[in-house]
Amino acid sequence: MKIIAFGASSSKKSINKTLATYVASLVKEAQVEVLDLNDYELPIYSQDKEQELGTPNAVKTFLQKINEADAVIVSFAEHNGSYSAAYKNIFDWATRTSKKVYENKKMIILSTSPGPGGAKAVFGTAVTSMPFFGAIVVGSMSVPSFFENFDMEKLSLKNSDLESKMLEIINKL
Ligand SMILES: Cc1cc2nc3c(=O)[nH]c(=O)nc-3n(C[C@H](O)[C@H](O)[C@H](O)COP(=O)(O)O)c2cc1C
Repeated sequence: MKIIAFGASSSKKSINKTLATYVASLVKEAQVEVLDLNDYELPIYSQDKEQELGTPNAVKTFLQKINEADAVIVSFAEHNGSYSAAYKNIFDWATRTSKKVYENKKMIILSTSPGPGGAKAVFGTAVTSMPFFGAIVVGSMSVPSFFENFDMEKLSLKNSDLESKMLEIINKL
């Protein structure tokens, strides 16, 4: 199984990228590619920019990566209750090529934040809306208080309840 994983953030120390990478590593015998949204930096989407630039190569590459995968694992960063600008921008660009950005691929939706909310607002938005964009959401989980629940040295969840729930979700892939 080929898996694309990414944190929906452009922070170089993204905890969501760390979480998505860890969860992808739990899938046995999977070929995992972790994307970094910094490699998909684009002008802020507008119809004018689209007319000027067409479909930028970064958008084509992003869609191609999804096309080649069997499953996608995304962990959403919450910025002011919503998607990070970095994710929203590549997502808006990608929808201009195909509304079904996620191409009927299985998806696991995650989110985390340093605080107890676990980025629940953006998590709720993603769980509700991703199916409209072609994602077959097989499981979802928000991890609160990231630094209390995740061991940054071992790069794994240290909360055993969260870890067993995560393993149940992985089995649905
Ligand atoms: C502009 C901005 C807005 C934020 N808004 C929220 C928020 O609404 N809810 C929340 O839980 N955390 C919020 N945070 C804190 C993020 O959860 C935190 O920066 C987290 O590390 C982001 O994930 P990342 O490390 O994967 O980028 C915000 C951070 C920034 C920089």
